[in-house]
Amino acid sequence: MKLLLPALLLALGVHAVKHEDFKECGQTSFCRRLRPLSTKSESADFASPYSLGTPSLASASQIGAPTKDSAWTFPLSSTLYPEVAFELRVDVLEGDIARVRVDEVGSASPWRRYNETARWSLLSSEPAHGTAKISTQNGMSSIKYGHGLELRINHAPLRIAMVRDGTEEIVFNDRGLFHMEHFRTKEMPVEEEVKETEGEQVKTEEGEAQTEEVEIKSEPEEQEPFEAVIDRSWFETEDGDMFEEQWKRWRDSKPKGPEAFSLDISFPLAKHVFGLPEHASPLSLPDTIGEGSHYTEPYRLWNVDIFEYVADSPMALYGAVPLLHAHSTKGTVGVLNLVASETWVDVAHTNGVQTHWISESGIMDLLLLPGPNPTALFEQYASLTGPAQMPPQFATAYHQCRWNYNTQGEVIEVQERFEEADMPLDVTWLDIEYADEHRYFDWNKKMFPDPVAMINQVAKFGRKMVAIVDPHIKRTDSFRVYKDSLDLDILIKKADNNNFDGWCWPGSSVWVDFFNPKSWEWWTRMFSFETWADQTKDLFVWNDMNEPSVFDGPEITMPKDNIHDGGWEHRDVHNINGMLFHNQTQHAITVREPTKKRPFVLSRAFFAGSQRFGSVWTGDNLGTWEHMAGEAAMFLSNSIAGISFVGADIGGFFGNPGNEMLVRWYQKGAFMPFMRAHAHIDTKRREPYLFEEPIRSYLRDALRLRYILLPAWYNAFHDAATKGHPVIWPQYAKYPSDETGAAVDNQYYVGDSGLLFRPVVDEGATSADVYLAAGQPFYDYFSPRMWPARSKPRNVTIDTPLDKFPLLIEGGHIFPSRERVRRSSSLMRLDPVTFTVALGHNQEAKGQLYMDDGETFAWESGAFIHRALEFKNGKLSSTQKVPHNAKNEYAQSIQDVGVERVRVLGLNQEPTSVSVSGKEVQFVWDKGAPSAKEPRAAVLTIKNPGVKVVNDWEIVIA
Ligand code: NOJ
Repeated sequence: MKLLLPALLLALGVHAVKHEDFKECGQTSFCRRLRPLSTKSESADFASPYSLGTPSLASASQIGAPTKDSAWTFPLSSTLYPEVAFELRVDVLEGDIARVRVDEVGSASPWRRYNETARWSLLSSEPAHGTAKISTQNGMSSIKYGHGLELRINHAPLRIAMVRDGTEEIVFNDRGLFHMEHFRTKEMPVEEEVKETEGEQVKTEEGEAQTEEVEIKSEPEEQEPFEAVIDRSWFETEDGDMFEEQWKRWRDSKPKGPEAFSLDISFPLAKHVFGLPEHASPLSLPDTIGEGSHYTEPYRLWNVDIFEYVADSPMALYGAVPLLHAHSTKGTVGVLNLVASETWVDVAHTNGVQTHWISESGIMDLLLLPGPNPTALFEQYASLTGPAQMPPQFATAYHQCRWNYNTQGEVIEVQERFEEADMPLDVTWLDIEYADEHRYFDWNKKMFPDPVAMINQVAKFGRKMVAIVDPHIKRTDSFRVYKDSLDLDILIKKADNNNFDGWCWPGSSVWVDFFNPKSWEWWTRMFSFETWADQTKDLFVWNDMNEPSVFDGPEITMPKDNIHDGGWEHRDVHNINGMLFHNQTQHAITVREPTKKRPFVLSRAFFAGSQRFGSVWTGDNLGTWEHMAGEAAMFLSNSIAGISFVGADIGGFFGNPGNEMLVRWYQKGAFMPFMRAHAHIDTKRREPYLFEEPIRSYLRDALRLRYILLPAWYNAFHDAATKGHPVIWPQYAKYPSDETGAAVDNQYYVGDSGLLFRPVVDEGATSADVYLAAGQPFYDYFSPRMWPARSKPRNVTIDTPLDKFPLLIEGGHIFPSRERVRRSSSLMRLDPVTFTVALGHNQEAKGQLYMDDGETFAWESGAFIHRALEFKNGKLSSTQKVPHNAKNEYAQSIQDVGVERVRVLGLNQEPTSVSVSGKEVQFVWDKGAPSAKEPRAAVLTIKNPGVKVVNDWEIVIA
């Protein structure tokens, strides 16, 4: 009998995260075995049994390219298992990144450890040829590389430190928690204890043969420690679940036996660690271990469908990026632990910050990112996993979704109602009910008799549509997608090699194995206009449930012993699985038309590198103040891990938000990189046009503000696509040397615009505090109020009646906007631009304006405009920032677009004239009250200065 309960409960609207559906560390055998290592390591005579032999230059054949002085291998052995050979390999990559890998080599076992995570996750890992030098003496190797960096490699016991200017900043195996469980057979005798004698000689005592009936001893007895003894029980805990594991009614056959690994990384200088998305936790990750720790479970990375997640928890959510930033005012460094199997991470703020990572399978593949500041880290990380995709313009605007708009008529009605209410909208979404029996691609023709006509009608408003295409495929012979995938033999298999089937929205379903290259061309074809005729170029895609969600599977996902292409188990690839589906879908959309178009595909599951394929959202949130409040930290955590095209369901997926909450959520939504309203099928309708005044106006204002600021957002998306910068920046990344602001995660900056946003997330709040860093004045976006520059950071309190929220502009920045709001962003293409110049303490400011056609890839070959704006010595100038191609059809198409207004905030002297090319232009001067108790900024408004955005110009203020 298939378990229908979750689906049933969902349909009935009964929700609550079911903790018992998801494992804790102690309920999963490898975590239960390896987590206690950290406590055991506190014993005075604890030592690592691992040591390295003499390094040799990695041969060209090992990486398929000449290594010169950039890669070395070291034999690695454990005194516990002298017969097992491991290898440690160090590569120095472009961008001063050191890569340390460990694999079991030359094993008699037929098994191999999964080593392809990098293949899917990394865009590039170019060796830095000939820039590094190794020297080895007295049991120590030193690799000098990059800008004053050194890897100090201690051979016995194994310990590797990344050193800068003589100081250790990242240390691998500092605490000796590294342990790689080697492949073994069930029958293999397990020795009781190994005594270390001199050097690396070991003596073993044969123990009893272990059988699978052995009882679990989760806490093995501690041996009396004595000198020079490696206690086997530190590293090997007898566990009857090593070769087979039962959890509730699911049995994991574990044919490969135990193959987990544990490693520790210390950051001696760090005060904070950030990252490891996705968790509903603060940005500065609290401790998970040690006395008084905030959490008692480690952060878990295991993509799961967890509806109604807990708002403050280290539990796993839909996506996983095993990246950490370790930060203090002394510097910021990062590590990417490239592993796709289930991973748990303990964090403790001890001697800096100590972290302990435990993964179920795979090789160890550790990338050490040297920083030394957050911006450099973003760029280093992007050099590995790729910068974000440049989204089509419409995707950066407002999206209206609901589970479900049920008929063609309803979709058109939504368009008209937005129109009547004078509210902008770019994208209307269709959830699973558009599809006949949840067979994606096949429209329910009773409800949507003419999808093409419908999409075309929506397009007349300048708008797009999105339809959901989930990865589960209804198992019925009448469904062509099922038949095809069966014929091509591209389905994920069970451990017994038969096709896996499970339960999801359509009932009994199968899943395509996107690791199988045979599926790629086929999936592309599924989206071609020939195969899927009921669509147009204005229809885009939503990939949901791709963790993958399997209603009757263990932890609502796929059994770990399922098999993928190449014979790899699902356990090995689980966290990348959803990313591959996302990748193939976006590729299909990109090549659908004869000229490639920028795709838009939203995904729920993600991994390191998903930013290359589109946007993500935070899944099934609740319409509660608590959930709303926690989301800023989640967006920021995703953003620093590359995935900053992120948003949450406006209004909350579950529940019926009251008016106040909805207004606050829309205001917050206007500042989410991905702005979409969405709601569960059982919720009341809540499209913004349904509300009475004044709520209606507040919602409209929030929508309009998003559209007004679209040019500033587009700049930020372009920086994400070209430099790997996040679209939204946390406080520590903007001000790395500010100690007090480092953990601030309830406010953030939009790109380099200077816009600082702080959502109001408290019921009934009439004011909100904003943290202002030292050094620059800040200006209120909505009023002339300003906060002069101070030498110390401070909190300021801002009034927040329901139509208002903290939106400040940091001095020193110029940002573009478009203030004529239309019914969709595409209709703003030829609208004039406004520049807001927020002067810094030195009466200077800088900014940019990036624009392109918003839909093709022509920008990559130079069809764009990219202007540098600068205010200095009383002059505002616009010059070319990045040269575009000579022809530049795009620039030609907007050559008449003018600057309709320049607003200069904080000028310290009244101008006598404003001129362009010697010709005076009109201006309005409001001297403000810069020295009042509640200071007001001076505002100079220049209307119609008569300049075009495509040209060089200078506005002189005398
Ligand atoms: C789960 C998704 O998280 C939610 O957004 C969607 O509405 C439902 N699946 C139905 O497709």
